[in-house]
Amino acid sequence: LVASFGGGALAGRRVVVSAGPTYEDIDPVRFIGNRSSGKMGFAVAEAAALAGAHVILVAGPVSLPTPAGVVERVDVRSAAQMHAAVIEASADADIYIAAAAVGDYRPQQVAPCKLKKQAGAELTLTLAENPDILATLSAQPTHPFLVGFAAETHDVATYAQDKLRRKKLDMIAANRVGEGLGFETAENALTLYWEGGSKELPRASKTELARELVARIAERFQRARA
Ligand code: CTP
Ligand code: CA
Repeated sequence: LVASFGGGALAGRRVVVSAGPTYEDIDPVRFIGNRSSGKMGFAVAEAAALAGAHVILVAGPVSLPTPAGVVERVDVRSAAQMHAAVIEASADADIYIAAAAVGDYRPQQVAPCKLKKQAGAELTLTLAENPDILATLSAQPTHPFLVGFAAETHDVATYAQDKLRRKKLDMIAANRVGEGLGFETAENALTLYWEGGSKELPRASKTELARELVARIAERFQRARA
């Protein structure tokens, strides 16, 4: 493992990694968010830096220190902010790794003042769709090598392969979540899919898994650019 990236498999490459959740504000004190600690994305950023890449980390609201070797960190809160930051950082990037759990919807209106409880009444929130960061990038005529993540509770392989094709990605890393799996844990397991192939990365610490993932990305990236 060490040999596979100790030689700097991504030396001289510019890599953008997104990590963590996004928070979509309802009012000044409330938001809608995703269950994501950011640990996997931060581990991926660290592994890419260790492999020699120039790494820009776009982070949603997480409480994690910037990993060693990461050159630039951009902190964002909402999906719209993450979209803008990733698109800007990806302009001259070789690889974009989308490990963030991006909110698919945001409240259509953000209340300027704290909403007051109306006792006994239901509250309906109207949500507007957020832009898809990966789909925006893959639609651009020139774009980085695109790696997505798919966290699924069921039919993991089917949904992951569908996202690979639908978003025109170069690779997708799929994992099963829920029932104590995947979130806020130190360990994880992934299955990688690309056009015409797949690879299981068995259960390991997020640090080890991230190094293995980065080694596989570097391999596929070099093949794609060859
Ligand atoms: N993603 C993105 N922009 C969004 C939503 C998701 O770039 N607005 C990226 C995620 O960072 C991830 C990949 O797309 O790398 C898959 O995210 P996922 O939520 O699994 O896919 P969706 O297409 O949103 O499908 P669904 O939530 O319905 O499963
Ligand atoms: Ca989603």
